[in-house]
Amino acid sequence: MRLLLTGSQGQLGRALAVASQRRCLDVAGIDLPEHDISDGPRVTALVRQWRPAVIVNCAAFTAVDLAEEHEEEARRVNAEAVGHLAAAANTVDALLVQISTDYVFDGTASRPYREDDPCRPLSAYGRSKLAGELAARQARRHLIVRTAWLYGEGQNFVGAIRRQLEAGARTLRVVNDQFGSPTWAVDLAEALLALVRLEVEGVVHAVNDGVTSWHGFACEIVRLLGADAEVVPVSTAQMPRPARRPPWSVLDTTLLCSILGKPMPPWQDALARYLAIR
Ligand SMILES: NC(=O)c1ccc[n+]([C@@H]2O[C@H](COP(=O)([O-])OP(=O)(O)OC[C@H]3O[C@@H](n4cnc5c(N)ncnc54)[C@H](OP(=O)(O)O)[C@@H]3O)[C@@H](O)[C@H]2O)c1
Repeated sequence: MRLLLTGSQGQLGRALAVASQRRCLDVAGIDLPEHDISDGPRVTALVRQWRPAVIVNCAAFTAVDLAEEHEEEARRVNAEAVGHLAAAANTVDALLVQISTDYVFDGTASRPYREDDPCRPLSAYGRSKLAGELAARQARRHLIVRTAWLYGEGQNFVGAIRRQLEAGARTLRVVNDQFGSPTWAVDLAEALLALVRLEVEGVVHAVNDGVTSWHGFACEIVRLLGADAEVVPVSTAQMPRPARRPPWSVLDTTLLCSILGKPMPPWQDALARYLAIR
């Protein structure tokens, strides 16, 4: 199977490239600065030339706080460019896999979010990603996979905590009133390729199993690293950020479990495997 990966140098893109190569898939990866997915004519030409069966769009403007001041740019990459990919996918009848986010929800639910729950993003990033979902639906064959709290090779929460510890921090202040499911890019890549192999279309939530707060996540990182540091719980109000985050970012993965026959591994297990090789 021939696969085109956008954002191939990002956290998920790297993990997908490795997982695809392990399966001996014919994979081509594109990323900035050489390939900009918001360049519609180039995207179309590339897709027509390469003729992939599947396009997995991992490219995105992912700087959530920066997007508040650069909403146009976020929308150009996270939405308009997805429209180009969808149009290009249609020219070769490819499946477009669009990666989306828990931030399309407002976080006020009292149970995990299902795929068909109403979206109401709180931030510019969330709005741009929701617009990206709508754009992806223009592809005759599309799969929208919403994930959350991703980490892998790149900049992420795990790295930020680790850097603070390595710099000698003995006290970390971390919010304990936002909940979600930390997800390792490697596990997500496996789930994505399984969904593609099964030719699943529509919207699917995919995160590592289990729920915690950023504080709980930080405590587990500190514990697994054997660091001597205290993680102090603080509220979101005590640590204001430019972009509002959903307090309850928990995605219901019942659909994914029924398709794959099992949940993705527990987040603690994923984190332990990630830290063991870093
Ligand atoms: N990270 C999370 O916590 C999280 C949570 C939920 C959903 N997601 C979604 O999951 C997907 C993968 O996220 P990730 O964490 O792997 O992202 P990432 O590490 O930021 O990687 C994104 C990649 O896309 C590239 N890119 C940005 N604009 C581009 C453009 N115009 N053309 C081509 N490439 C471009 C980036 O290049 P530069 O680095 O040079 O900009 C980067 O290599 C994204 O759709 C994201 O919205 C992420």
